[in-house]
Order: sequence, then structure tokens, then C-alpha cells
Amino acid sequence: MFPWVLTLLLYCAAASPVHDQTVLTSGKPLTASESQSPGWYDPRLRGGRMLDYTIEDYGEPLNIIISALSDPYILTDNGFEHYTKSLGYSQECLGLHYGNRHYADLGDGDGQKIELILARQHYFPVWGTCWESLAGGHHFRAWRQNGTEANSGAWFIGASKELDSRNHHTIVPNGYNLGRDWFVDNAIAGTRHKNRWWKAEVEWRTDLLEEGSDGINHGIAQDGRVAVLTVLRL
Ligand SMILES: *[C@@H]1O[C@H](CO)[C@@H](O)[C@H](O)[C@H]1NC(C)=O
Repeated sequence: MFPWVLTLLLYCAAASPVHDQTVLTSGKPLTASESQSPGWYDPRLRGGRMLDYTIEDYGEPLNIIISALSDPYILTDNGFEHYTKSLGYSQECLGLHYGNRHYADLGDGDGQKIELILARQHYFPVWGTCWESLAGGHHFRAWRQNGTEANSGAWFIGASKELDSRNHHTIVPNGYNLGRDWFVDNAIAGTRHKNRWWKAEVEWRTDLLEEGSDGINHGIAQDGRVAVLTVLRL
């Protein structure tokens, strides 16, 4: 082979980014008409709701959606963990979590399913998340919309800000709005984990949740806004 051909080949190999082998485990690729869709399905269309389920019928708002039009890597379990780490959350020290598990019905045919992920803000390196568990702070729970009836692969997230664990992890006043905004502000500012960089675009929806405290866990009012994020890999 001529040396210049070799050089060209090497150049091309170096220039083309190595694509992640991770694929959307949610199954079916979007059809042409679905790809016009916003990357998630309104859970209410098939009996779900934008509040999770805690005790009795009370719930916490699912106030963030990560659209399936985002970087495919963060739609995987590992990628999502890395992405949320880049935002300042961590999944360590969950043993210190005293709260009960929540369920959500995303209208995807799975009915009420248990939270997949519970992550907490980490404060400083010595104590990491363990310290946060005592001091309170930001956290979120996440579910994936991947049942067969609405298999978007999108993440539905309930974010909030808590008091410390002596107060049994209750939410601070305005804690749902604060928790959501902290997540969203970090996402749109842009973050990185190792060599991956991301920046999110946000669309605010006011038609998915009722504003107020009706049916809301701890009776804490929220403003009814849901952030739909499309997280792009830079
Ligand atoms: C749905 O997503 C979760 C989390 O990624 C995964 O554990 C589960 O196996 C998926 N279910 C299906 C039917 O693909």
C-alpha cells in the first residue's frame, strides 16, 4: 500500500469518533411517524400520571423528563448514572436512606413500577453522599418509560430538596421546585464525566401537572412546571 493511503486511513480512523456500543435497550427503534414525537409519551394517555406513588394516593411530582432524543448513552443505566454524577449526584451510601420506596405509572403498560434509581447530591469528598444523607440536600428518583405500550426509553424524574435525616428526609418548603431547578440549571450549564461532555436544552411544560399541593406528598405546593430536557453530547 502506498504510504499516503496508509496515512489517510490512519487519519480517518483517528478522526471518526468511536461510537458507544451501548444501544437503547428499550427495544424498537422509533418509526418515521414516532420520530416526529418529542421523545417521550404523556403517561396520562394510558392511565399513568405525573405524580409518583408514595403512601395512599399521595405522590411527588415527576418534574423532569429526559427525552429519548438525548445522547443514546445516557438512556442506558450506566450512562444515566455517569450523567447524573456529572450533575453532582451520586448513588453511594444509599443504606443511609430512611425513606420508603416510591412507585410510578408512566402509562407504558407496566402499571406501577418501583423506582429504579435514587441518587443524592454529594457535598464534599470526605463524607461524600454519606454526609449528604445526614445534612439533607438534593436528590431524585428515576423511572424509565420502557413498557411495551409506550416504549420511548425516556427517563422520568422526581427531583426535590430535603431536610436532613433527623427530619426523616422530608422535603424543604418549595423543595420540589428547588430540586428540579437545581438539576435543570446544572444540565443546561453543561457538565462532564471523564471525557464525555454534555449540555441540555430545556422545554418547559405547564400542561402535565396541576399547580398546587393537591395530592402531593408532605402537602408542599409546587408550580406545576415540568422540564423536558434533551441532553446533547458535545
Ligand atoms: C426497562 O428499563 C430498565 C432500566 O433501564 C431495565 O432494567 C429493564 O430491563 C427495561 N425493561 C425492558 C422490558 O426492556
